[in-house]
Amino acid sequence: MSSIIISDAWEGDLKEIAEIENSSFDQPFPLPLLKAYLSLADGLFLVARDNDRVLGYCIGIVQFKVRGHIISIATSIHSRKRGVGSALLQELERRFMKIGCTYSYLEVNVKNLDAISFYYNRSYRIVRTRKNYYGRNKHGFIMTKSFKGLNYFE
Ligand SMILES: CC(C)(COP(=O)(O)OP(=O)(O)OC[C@H]1O[C@@H](n2cnc3c(N)ncnc32)[C@H](O)[C@@H]1OP(=O)(O)O)[C@@H](O)C(=O)NCCC(=O)NCCS
Repeated sequence: MSSIIISDAWEGDLKEIAEIENSSFDQPFPLPLLKAYLSLADGLFLVARDNDRVLGYCIGIVQFKVRGHIISIATSIHSRKRGVGSALLQELERRFMKIGCTYSYLEVNVKNLDAISFYYNRSYRIVRTRKNYYGRNKHGFIMTKSFKGLNYFE
């Protein structure tokens, strides 16, 4: 793979992002919601590109000025385990820190072992379970990562 470039997403990326979203999740964000996130993005809706192809994307928001929330991250099935997700996460965290966030967090389906392991290996830790977060009997973990060497959530 040639080098991966991480940059801000733009309207022209949305079709490819929606394709990645649809092939990655049982309950994908619909295109209008992706569009809405893009309009609110403020530098936290990122894409990974290789030449002209979108390989993955992530969306973050900042809450209460200190808390980075990873809304979504996904890479295309054919480009997984090649460093794309790590590059996206690293850049999103860098931007969270630049804005002043002291930690980041996310929700992940308790059955999504690949993603849980991906986050764990990047210093995220499970701090809570959210019952029925993804629907009836579909529970989620909250995982957090401190940018200041502490392990807390709130
Ligand atoms: C979770 C997800 C975003 C990870 O994306 P990815 O592009 O595969 O991430 P990376 O390639 O950076 O890392 C994945 C693994 O591949 C490894 N890897 C990276 N480059 C590699 C290479 N060249 N050769 C072998 N392994 C490699 C990484 O080290 C990592 O393993 P580790 O966690 O043991 O360190 C992706 O699996 C995905 O889109 N899943 C579906 C959507 C999803 O569940 N999102 C999370 C919702 S909460």
